[in-house]
Amino acid sequence: MSRILITGGAGYIGSHTALTLLGVGYDVVIVDNFSNSSPKAVDALSALALKETGKQFAFYEGDVCDGAFLRTVFEADKIEAIIHFAGLKAVGESVAIPAKYYDNNLRSTLTLLNTMKEFGVTGFVFSSSATVYSDPGVTKYDEATTRVGRASSPYGTTKVMQEWILEDTALSGEIPLKVISLRYFNPVGAHSSGEIGESPQGIPNNLTPFITQVAVGKREFLSVFGDDYPTPDGTCIRDYIHVTDLAEAHYLAVKRLLEVDDLPMFDAINIGSGNGYSVFEVISAFDRAVGKKIPYKVVARRGGDLAEFTAKTEKAKKLFGFTTKLTIDDMAKDAWNWQNKHPNGFDD
Ligand SMILES: NC(=O)c1ccc[n+]([C@@H]2O[C@H](COP(=O)([O-])OP(=O)(O)OC[C@H]3O[C@@H](n4cnc5c(N)ncnc54)[C@H](O)[C@@H]3O)[C@@H](O)[C@H]2O)c1
Repeated sequence: MSRILITGGAGYIGSHTALTLLGVGYDVVIVDNFSNSSPKAVDALSALALKETGKQFAFYEGDVCDGAFLRTVFEADKIEAIIHFAGLKAVGESVAIPAKYYDNNLRSTLTLLNTMKEFGVTGFVFSSSATVYSDPGVTKYDEATTRVGRASSPYGTTKVMQEWILEDTALSGEIPLKVISLRYFNPVGAHSSGEIGESPQGIPNNLTPFITQVAVGKREFLSVFGDDYPTPDGTCIRDYIHVTDLAEAHYLAVKRLLEVDDLPMFDAINIGSGNGYSVFEVISAFDRAVGKKIPYKVVARRGGDLAEFTAKTEKAKKLFGFTTKLTIDDMAKDAWNWQNKHPNGFDD
């Protein structure tokens, strides 16, 4: 069976994807430097993988920017395709310390490309983001027509630049590369077992980990940033996708790279549900999941927030049959189950 390298596989999306790939029979090799995760996440994934799939993965601690380290990984295991999750992702920190983000995110991709060239590996699935779109007039983003360009944060711009590096390298023919760049919308939820999930360090940047921390009593209330947007209930609308569905999308992308001849050198594909939910609708889903009201206060709008953005999802469906299966209530239930079982993330 094919052996897939998952960079950043100790993190939130990478760990769920590793489990899915093991479940369908792939061999998995994970590298992570624990800059935003911990060995406890690897232990939890290992125990869950054994229970759910009867399989294990290889793990190497190290930095994807370190070419000598990567070479040892590629020498030890014949890798057939790569999923590159490793990256720094805190939007606020990227505004405060942009060089750290450009350095880690761009260098990790360049180092991977050099190593792939050396070892003749051609399949590359990239963790991109809806943040690459820079067209403020649009509410439903389409891969072919929505403008991609300088993003609203240095983090987002690293995603734009990584896509350009990958596309230019693939089109140059310097390496016989095939790239699928998955532009995620808003990943939420956790594995249904409650044994792996999102474990943010410090104050969560995203809505749903903040809600679950309020629900479990770690924070007093949720701040809702503005209820005067031009949406039906006045709060911002986003396209949420369950992390288990997102993991499935990675499986389908890898399968396409391994099994389909005559692919484009570079393809960017939205991965979302295609449906939008407002902040108030998300809070209501968590009220139902937790069985009590989540306390919140409406505060001033936050700079840079768009009223609404959701994905056009036809391309993922057409190219590799991907559609989401899990609902907003599944997302709330599983996120709450994980937080409730592990109030302090992998430290519990
Ligand atoms: N979570 C989201 O909302 C979201 C949305 C769009 C895109 N993405 C992208 O998806 C990818 C995974 O996101 P996530 O939410 O799982 O993040 P995460 O922080 O949980 O996982 C990323 C992992 O990469 C590791 N890492 C970072 N730099 C590394 C390096 N140089 N060498 C080795 N390991 C390194 C971290 O330790 C971490 O375990 C990231 O590239 C992120 O930008 C995430």
